[in-house]
Amino acid sequence: MSHSAALENEPLYRKYIKLMTLEEKAAQLLQLAAPFYDKPGDHSEVTGPMEELGIDAATVQNAGSVLGISGAEKMIAVQQAHMEQNRLGIPLLFMADIVHGFKTIFPIPLAIGCSWNPELAERSAQVAAYEAAVSGLHVTFAPMVDLVRDPRWGRVMESTGEDPYLNAVFARAFVEGFQGEDLSGDVKRVAACVKHFAAYGLSEGGRDYNTVDLSERQLREYYLPAYKAAVDAGCEMVMTSFNTVDGIPATGNRKLLRSLLREEWGFEGVVISDWAAIKEIVAHGAAGDEREAALKAMLAGVDIDMMTTSYIQHLPELVREGAIEQRMLDEAVLRILKLKEKLGLFENPLRGADPAAEAEIMRCAEHREVSRQLAEQSAVLLKNGGLLPLRQGQKIALVGPFADSGDILGWWSWLGETETAVKLGTAMQQLAAEPADVRIAEGCGIESITDAQKAAALQAAEGADVIVLALGEASHMSGEAGSRSDIRLPEAQLELIRLMKELGKPLAVVLFNGRPLDLHGVYDTADAVLEAWYPGSEGGAALANLLYGAANPSGRLSMSFPYTVGQVPVYYNHYSTGRPFSAEEQEKGNRYISQYLDIPNDPLLPFGFGLSYTSYAYEGLQLSAQQLTADGELKVKVKVTNTGAMAGTETLQLYVRDVAGEVVRPVRELKAFRQVTLAPGESREVEFTLTEMQLRYHHSDLSVSSDPGAFRLYVGGNSRDALEAEFRLV
Ligand code: GLC
Repeated sequence: MSHSAALENEPLYRKYIKLMTLEEKAAQLLQLAAPFYDKPGDHSEVTGPMEELGIDAATVQNAGSVLGISGAEKMIAVQQAHMEQNRLGIPLLFMADIVHGFKTIFPIPLAIGCSWNPELAERSAQVAAYEAAVSGLHVTFAPMVDLVRDPRWGRVMESTGEDPYLNAVFARAFVEGFQGEDLSGDVKRVAACVKHFAAYGLSEGGRDYNTVDLSERQLREYYLPAYKAAVDAGCEMVMTSFNTVDGIPATGNRKLLRSLLREEWGFEGVVISDWAAIKEIVAHGAAGDEREAALKAMLAGVDIDMMTTSYIQHLPELVREGAIEQRMLDEAVLRILKLKEKLGLFENPLRGADPAAEAEIMRCAEHREVSRQLAEQSAVLLKNGGLLPLRQGQKIALVGPFADSGDILGWWSWLGETETAVKLGTAMQQLAAEPADVRIAEGCGIESITDAQKAAALQAAEGADVIVLALGEASHMSGEAGSRSDIRLPEAQLELIRLMKELGKPLAVVLFNGRPLDLHGVYDTADAVLEAWYPGSEGGAALANLLYGAANPSGRLSMSFPYTVGQVPVYYNHYSTGRPFSAEEQEKGNRYISQYLDIPNDPLLPFGFGLSYTSYAYEGLQLSAQQLTADGELKVKVKVTNTGAMAGTETLQLYVRDVAGEVVRPVRELKAFRQVTLAPGESREVEFTLTEMQLRYHHSDLSVSSDPGAFRLYVGGNSRDALEAEFRLV
């Protein structure tokens, strides 16, 4: 068969590779930010340091993808122009950070993690994908699944929390929501890009972009499961992280990317660097220059160079010199072309871009309803002595910088509109018997307070039955590069709390924040505390429903609240140590136990914790046997009863403790959870099934297996308060 005939029979992506020059192949690996394609004054998202890249128009015309452009008409214009200018007519891939919503913004992922509702999380990702796809996007840089234990790090807001199992459940749900079952056929879905590979959440000191260093065992046991869940769910792309892994920047780390991700896990999709991360291998001190950085990244298996010219400057010469095999470059190009083909871009470069649909579905009632539901289920009631829910007819003073603020979307809400976000005050006035029952005052700024603001707050509180303080962090105080060393509320807000407390009226606090906070001056002062996180476009409506009891809080913390920042990192699945703390030993005055002289070991509020307007009783924990065999199943039953006067949803959590392992084992590990909705007085018998596979872990030689021996089992409403039983694995 002639060469041209053979070529004709090749799939398009293989045809192109045979026609591309070396420079065109290198440019296909380049991803440029929106400003390279924007008309002056156009809005586009820039999410990293913009540098003068010194590239010419020809390079822009050969680039393979663009990030941060959206809008159906703009995408259509950019893609059509690109198709005319690109010699072979290879379409662009359009990517952006659609992390917790596109135009309809959902609660931040850390809040979604507290919903313990992966089905609703999947639905939110599907809505986000639909809105993004009609606006011309093809790939979202989400889900972010980095395990987090340090609330000083600003990007904890982007994670679903501190537990590997819960993070894996959500990772799968988000990927399935974004991608659906048939990415090729369903133009209302987008490809997902799981990030940041790997262990970015362990940045030392909670300082963003800082060093990460951990054992391979820890990496595999805690930090990798959620990425693996995303890959196993068919995630099309993986983004490398800014940090080092065992001394080598992830973006140049062959062991991490080629050996583990591609060979061990069998990932065949596209690997993209984070913004400028290839070039930053030089700043890390793991490459002498950009040429060496490009070499290391390509050898490691990074396909797309986000926003630097390392690849286009150096790959052609590296191939010509033989430092990189042509095959390796071709494979990178083929993976990108295959994704374009999978998205149907060769047949239809405009894919799902649809200005009419865009005008119709953005923030439509159906999408806003999903956001409101998720916001209601993501809020966590941290304290309540009976003050909440509020009663109709009560005079409420709603005071604080978030009393009527639209800054409730959180970081990574790029196209969200703070101006159309449902504000707390507005929603409460709509829900109250009379709008005048809710008097609103700002009371203070985020980090400042004036006499006039204090006077207005005191005036609003006059005659009030209840004071509700709406406090928190401005959204820029978390997110990327948003690390804080002091994670308390700003002093101005603590002053406002003290001022309001002096009035001697019942005091509730609603918190808007992107991380677990040090709640000194809040938790000890208020009668009720509701953690709202950044609840998204419908946040005010959701919170008003919760405050007035139209909805019953069901959120459970997916990340511990520390007693104070000095306790950090604090997390539930910690090891025992050789001198574990015990109150008895402390009572006896034994100094030589693992403790602080000035604070407790336990967090203020543990993983899995959350209150409700009702209460639940757990009884009758029973196991189907006292022994579990390798091929057997252990049935775990418990009866849970709604012992209060309001219907509610309880999240039953099942934890185990491997009492003695080949290596030390956590004092608790979440293995299963179930949500049940119970009417007042209703009981439900809930059954879990435990198998030997769920007891496996990484041994010192990195093999994964279980150890026969004693196990403890805990079932309850959080990681601390639970019924306990024992069994043996034989
Ligand atoms: C940023 C973030 C990453 C994001 C990327 C593109 O630096 O680290 O999460 O997806 O750049 O915006």
